[in-house]
Amino acid sequence: MKVGVIGAGTMGQGIAKAFAQVDGYSVALCDIKQEWAEGGKDKIVKGYAKLVEKGKLTQEQVDKITAAITPGLKEDICADCDLIVEAAFEDMNVKQTTFKELDAICKADCIFASNTSSLSITEIGKGVNRPVVGMHFFNPADRMKLIEVIAGVNTPVDIVEKIKKISEEIGKTPVQVNEAAGFVVNRILIPLINEAAFIKMEGVSDIEGIDTAMKLGANHPMGPLELGDYIGLDICLAIMDVLYNETKDGKYRACPLLRKMVRGGNLGVKSGKGFYVYNADKTKTPVDKL
Ligand code: 3HC
Repeated sequence: MKVGVIGAGTMGQGIAKAFAQVDGYSVALCDIKQEWAEGGKDKIVKGYAKLVEKGKLTQEQVDKITAAITPGLKEDICADCDLIVEAAFEDMNVKQTTFKELDAICKADCIFASNTSSLSITEIGKGVNRPVVGMHFFNPADRMKLIEVIAGVNTPVDIVEKIKKISEEIGKTPVQVNEAAGFVVNRILIPLINEAAFIKMEGVSDIEGIDTAMKLGANHPMGPLELGDYIGLDICLAIMDVLYNETKDGKYRACPLLRKMVRGGNLGVKSGKGFYVYNADKTKTPVDKL
């Protein structure tokens, strides 16, 4: 099966790896510029090189996986895809335009799926001449076991079932979700990260204290502030805003500190600074300890 992954950023790279690691799957990794698509593949190759160094995978295994990923432009390499997983910028206009363009590029039986983290699948599919389904991966997409499979109002049952089957084929566990802002995981997880930002803003504890408390007190693998940095604080803020705008419920009010940090370009790991500063030697320092 050939899968077109649209967007070669963090999620797109992880999704490409999740498919390419499985026999029988090949990936067209696309972005709006050829060099961005190639940059995404370069990062994938570098990540695997580290796993070879550590002895986790052999060079032969890595060569096979990376050979299954072709970077390029969707108009050049997606015509024969069987499945599209769109992981473009989290913006309704961008997603709608992307699918309308793909409609003219892809063969008639290609399934269209979106990795949107909280937007309406029904709205994404408006004006597209085939159904759109949600196929929501979790970061790091090649390691995390869950896929939320989201049925929009107009998504036929057979498309939902096909995505569930494909999810299982690539070693994931699908959970079917009806369309609703944030679906299941982000509706719970992102307000938790937002609450941690409020706790920091109010001075209840410092950054390390909040993260340590949740790691040791709730057995979370990462603390909420370090997880926010890892997901991207801009993504967390965008999801809070979708939850609030869809429901107008004050419980989803984004923390002002989170908004301020995003406005200042402090987005977390990807910008080198969020609640932590990410040092060249791979260590990180909480910004309130600098
Ligand atoms: N093959 C073989 N070995 C591999 C490998 C691969 N493909 N990838 C990694 N490994 C190795 C690693 O090198 C590591 O080896 P080491 O222990 O010798 O260093 C070992 O396997 C363990 O690697 P992990 O990546 O599993 O590392 P951790 O056990 O530290 O887990 C983590 C990392 C999975 C990120 C964990 O901290 C975690 O689960 N964090 C929470 C993540 C989370 O909540 N994600 C969801 C975010 S929300 C989201 O994405 C939704 C979106 O819409 C916003």
